[in-house]
Amino acid sequence: MQQKNNGKVSVRVKKLRQEIARLRAEYHIENAPNVTDSVYESLSRELGTLLKDYPEFRDENAPENRVAGKPLDKFTKVKHGSRMLSLNDAFSYEELYEWEKRIKKLLPPPPFGRGAGAVQALRSPQARRGEVNYFCEVKFDGLAVSLIYENGKFVRGATRGDGFVGENITQNLKTINSIPLILNSFPPAKGGIKGGGGGGEIPKYLEVRGEALVSKKILEHLNAKNVKEGKPLFANTRNVAAGSLRQLDPKLVAERKLEFSAYDMFVSPEPATHSEKHRMLKDLGFPVDPHDAICKNLEEVKSFIEKFGKIRPNFPYGTDGIVISVDNIKLQNVLGVVGKAPRYMVAFKYPAEKATTVVKEILVNVGRTGVLTPLAVFEPTFIAGSTVSKATLHNMDQIERLDLRIGDTVVIEKAGDVIPKVVEVLTRMRTGVEKKFKMPTFCPVCGGKVEKKNTQSRIHKISSHFTLKGSDMTQKFYESATASVAYYCTNPKCGAKNERYLEHFVSVFEIYELGPKILRRFKDEGLITDAADIFTLTEIEIASLERFGEKSARNIIKEIENKKKIPLAKFLSALGILHVGEETARDLAVHFGTLPKVISVAQSNLSEIDNIENIGPAVSKSLHEFFQNKSNLNFIKKLEQNGVVIEKAPKKTKGKFSGLSFVLTGTLAEMSRQIGKERILALGGKVSGSVSKNTSFVVAGDGSGAKFTTAKKLGVKIIDEKEFLQMLNSGA
Ligand code: IVH
Repeated sequence: MQQKNNGKVSVRVKKLRQEIARLRAEYHIENAPNVTDSVYESLSRELGTLLKDYPEFRDENAPENRVAGKPLDKFTKVKHGSRMLSLNDAFSYEELYEWEKRIKKLLPPPPFGRGAGAVQALRSPQARRGEVNYFCEVKFDGLAVSLIYENGKFVRGATRGDGFVGENITQNLKTINSIPLILNSFPPAKGGIKGGGGGGEIPKYLEVRGEALVSKKILEHLNAKNVKEGKPLFANTRNVAAGSLRQLDPKLVAERKLEFSAYDMFVSPEPATHSEKHRMLKDLGFPVDPHDAICKNLEEVKSFIEKFGKIRPNFPYGTDGIVISVDNIKLQNVLGVVGKAPRYMVAFKYPAEKATTVVKEILVNVGRTGVLTPLAVFEPTFIAGSTVSKATLHNMDQIERLDLRIGDTVVIEKAGDVIPKVVEVLTRMRTGVEKKFKMPTFCPVCGGKVEKKNTQSRIHKISSHFTLKGSDMTQKFYESATASVAYYCTNPKCGAKNERYLEHFVSVFEIYELGPKILRRFKDEGLITDAADIFTLTEIEIASLERFGEKSARNIIKEIENKKKIPLAKFLSALGILHVGEETARDLAVHFGTLPKVISVAQSNLSEIDNIENIGPAVSKSLHEFFQNKSNLNFIKKLEQNGVVIEKAPKKTKGKFSGLSFVLTGTLAEMSRQIGKERILALGGKVSGSVSKNTSFVVAGDGSGAKFTTAKKLGVKIIDEKEFLQMLNSGA
């Protein structure tokens, strides 16, 4: 009897799930609800009752289990299958045209697709005319996430993190109704049931990337609540999305009513175009930007931008631009990635909004390196979706450039997701009471002496092979090295410096339990004098402080213990050395491998540091000063004595081309020579402009002349493009 009943229940549970999933898709993905909420709720209730009575039919991946699971202690790390990239920006149509010019130079000249194994896509009539299809879609202002599906089931979701490694936020992502837990089959069966049915194929493994977002309505609602409770306001929808997904308790995340919009997928076999990916995503059950469109040229892209620009102010979600991609994936692969961003995509940013306000005062902040930063405080002003009352003025030069005085009426500017800045002073509004600002001669926090230092702000070292055609590959040059004056507090014991530094240190070490308030308390109570003391804290010490229970003390100590081991790159970044941020620290770690090596070279051989790609003299000078300083060395020693273990950086993996030298000559059919060079360099090989007996291979494209002859004469191995491609793509 029970057996028979079970059969019936099983069918009913399945039907209920399918119908609930279909209604969910209608509501959250197609935005076209056909039934009232009460129908959905009634079916969900029936399912709930059945599953209570028949627990054997429970399934953790079923739609009713979106908000489940206990709050986590912390998020675990997830390594991304491929790096999560960012985008380069274009702030005007001119910049879009420059981008197009750059990418077209890198594509082989039309007619494309000559030679053996030519890429079919490059042979289209449009490609022959040198035209490229673009795909345009809205750039949502949320948080990038990666979703993994195995056999059609959502198994894991992660944040972008540093692009290589993110945090596992699966539980939180499951609370987002527009993320399907079970995929539609692909292609969807005719008349098939959406939301888990269908008769087509489901990819075995699929990664989907997209934006987790909240609506402007939710932002307004939360901010209204925060005003009432006297809490700080969220600046934009992105901060709400990010803050929500960081919650360890999925129930709290569910309250925030997050949404999702997909923009990319990785599946095998690879679809031919980006627009095809969007269509597939939609069929699989993901919401995608409903405005997306293919544009045949930049003129059409401009119309798209203008059309959406009109909708944008009333669009229910925060957006900060339009993402434009080269639609053809083969062409995307030809263009590749430079640094953190693909060359085949660009984010057009809508111009920032402007507003006027009056500067009430200029405050001075003291940063962790002791640098004094002026901050304009003005009448609260509503601009680009939020109310702002402060803007950094960066340095004294900026104040002088603007000719800014206290009491001035100023123009402030803010793009949706960007911090406001003062861009202009309306000098004609002056009445004569405005006061000039002077940097204090003593630190506003500790009273220590303030000193002026000449610094070089932002030095970009660019390897010439990215910018200078035909020049020596190893030559480097510096761009926009502008000198400026900065003011520093000279007191090494300055409280503000220390506090900011402690906050920086614990955040790099990822000791999340130690927020700024707790750190300040520990300092005030004398438990710590510097960051190294953190590692000798004890449970008893902490628990004996008023308002600290044994449990929180235990959690703090547990977390500190867990974080004692740290990779070299992170350790270098935690030291807070001037000009050594996360990226530079990583470059240094990869180059030197161990801390003693970094220290000895920084003390003695600055040119070795200068020669590292992306690192300039400002960094080497700063490293030199830092590691010459005895107290810094003592601090490192103290950290190690207190149990911090610095892990060696893994040796830079030698590419399969290391030790090989190439000369490229003639025209290649499948890629420009520039791209060919970059691929060789990326695999550890060298590229030279002339053939010698040390050349390992000459890659001969169409029309190669003198270099070909020299290679023959010297007996250097000559390969054609097909062989070259085989070498590039072989697993060896
Ligand atoms: S494509 C290559 N498409 O913008 C990077 N990004 O500035 C892949 N974003 O991290 C991004 N909407 O968080 C892409 N339609 C869209 C987007 C989008 C928002 C965000 C995403 C990314 C950031 C890059």
